[in-house]
Amino acid sequence: MAGQNPKQTSTHYHHHVAALAFPFGTHAGPLLSLVLRLAAAAPNTTFSFITTSKANSSLFSPTSEASGFRNVKTYNVSDGLPEGFVPTGHPEQPIGFFLKEAPANFRNAMKEAEAGIGLRIGCLVTDAFFWFAGDMAEEMKVPWVPLWTAGPRSLYVHVATDLIRQRVLGTSGNGEIKTLEFLPGFSKVEVADLPEGVVSGNLESPISTLLHKMGQELPKAAAVALNSFEEAEPEVVNALKSRFQNFFNVGPFNLASPSPPLLEDETGCLEWLDKHKPASVAYISFGSVVRPPPHELEAFAQALIESGFPFIWSFRGNADDILPKGFDDKSSLNGKIVSWAPQVQVLGHASVGVFVTHCGWNSTLESIVGGVPMIGRPFFGDQKMNMRTIESIWGIGVGIEGGILTKHGAIKALELILKGKEGNEMRQKIRVLKNLAQSAVEGDGSSTKAFNSLVEIVTKHEGI
Ligand SMILES: *[C@@H]1O[C@H](CO)[C@@H](O)[C@H](O)[C@H]1NC(C)=O
Ligand SMILES: *[C@@H]1O[C@H](CO)[C@@H](O)[C@H](O)[C@H]1NC(C)=O
Ligand SMILES: *[C@@H]1O[C@H](CO)[C@@H](O)[C@H](O)[C@H]1NC(C)=O
Ligand SMILES: *[C@@H]1O[C@H](CO)[C@@H](O)[C@H](O)[C@H]1NC(C)=O
Repeated sequence: MAGQNPKQTSTHYHHHVAALAFPFGTHAGPLLSLVLRLAAAAPNTTFSFITTSKANSSLFSPTSEASGFRNVKTYNVSDGLPEGFVPTGHPEQPIGFFLKEAPANFRNAMKEAEAGIGLRIGCLVTDAFFWFAGDMAEEMKVPWVPLWTAGPRSLYVHVATDLIRQRVLGTSGNGEIKTLEFLPGFSKVEVADLPEGVVSGNLESPISTLLHKMGQELPKAAAVALNSFEEAEPEVVNALKSRFQNFFNVGPFNLASPSPPLLEDETGCLEWLDKHKPASVAYISFGSVVRPPPHELEAFAQALIESGFPFIWSFRGNADDILPKGFDDKSSLNGKIVSWAPQVQVLGHASVGVFVTHCGWNSTLESIVGGVPMIGRPFFGDQKMNMRTIESIWGIGVGIEGGILTKHGAIKALELILKGKEGNEMRQKIRVLKNLAQSAVEGDGSSTKAFNSLVEIVTKHEGI
């Protein structure tokens, strides 16, 4: 009956790629961005995007960009949660349940996708967290292409974990080692900046084990992709190139995507920014995963009130939770507290002079692309190392004094960047990085070339 329902028959497609997404945190979004770019570049390939139905429903709304792609289909896998599971609030718990189901749940979904499309899967594109996909790809005799959703420096740390443990924890270490200068490009990075689970904290937790395994398995991959550009950290990129068969920096994603969706400005941020002077406003967002403790939020709000710098604070919650007790004259604030802001456009607005951030990789890249220096309050994972890179390697921001938000520390950092000559120097440095990012995604730029090579690997058999 081929031809009766052309969307579902193989007659239109020559190749089938499965994309396996990690359904927690902000992982699945970047994998979907990459898959949509690949799908646009390879119209004869069909992509089966596989994740939990919960992650699926937050990525694919009927109006989302993804729904316009005829060659991207979604499949779900079980999240492994026991019946009647009540979350304890510990984020690693649901991850543990999910990982117990994997990879069997993915194998089943891939069978379903192969049957549905009528084509065998010819390539596995996965979140790099799924180290087991290397073995799956080997069994299937297809290339494995993992995507690392953070920066090259944190990736290198996971690839070099055995060496780092040996140096820092081994007998030769004796706790004397302060920096990671034995790694290329790491002379300014301190042991204390490492993500937990490398040399500190629980080295055997599900996530530490997963990242350690990942670092050991990634050299098997046909290509490792990430959301960055080579010129951002050339020394670390070269070190990784020597470890991997192919290492493709194909970002920044928000510059490289064919048509980055323009977000609606429901909260009127852009219009409000239009009324302000260049580089005068502080934009504050600590990302969607962590919320700083109440005393830090209040201290930071006090700093804004006392210093009078104009601000936009993107805060999912009640504004009364961050304002100092007894403060009820919101109309006297020289700023806006909004439940959501179109971050990329806000950071791209000339009035924004500083970004107060948790230093997640996405936010860091978005700030570079917007040309906005940062004040960092990192929390976990790669964030401290990103902060170190921002402050000591790129010179485009500062960490908050003492690592936590206090009124005094916040005012000092805001003044430094919004009023001091240091702020202007940082703006100049970040402009250089921004220009490198823009060149990377141009026709003959490094990210464009890397993406074209990636398309070749992913769609090897498309023309057959
Ligand atoms: C897709 O396949 C058709 C034939 O089925 C071919 O004519 C076309 O060139 C292919 N497109 C690409 C981008 O390979
Ligand atoms: C994913 O979400 C979209 C939009 O809500 C829906 O149309 C689709 O059926 C979902 N896919 C799966 C496998 O549940
Ligand atoms: C996956 O989606 C199908 C319908 O598309 C549904 O019947 C099934 O229960 C879902 N499975 C899981 C594990 O969510
Ligand atoms: C990070 O960036 C990617 C690509 O631009 C996007 O798809 C994703 O939604 C972003 N995630 C967050 C948490 O902003």
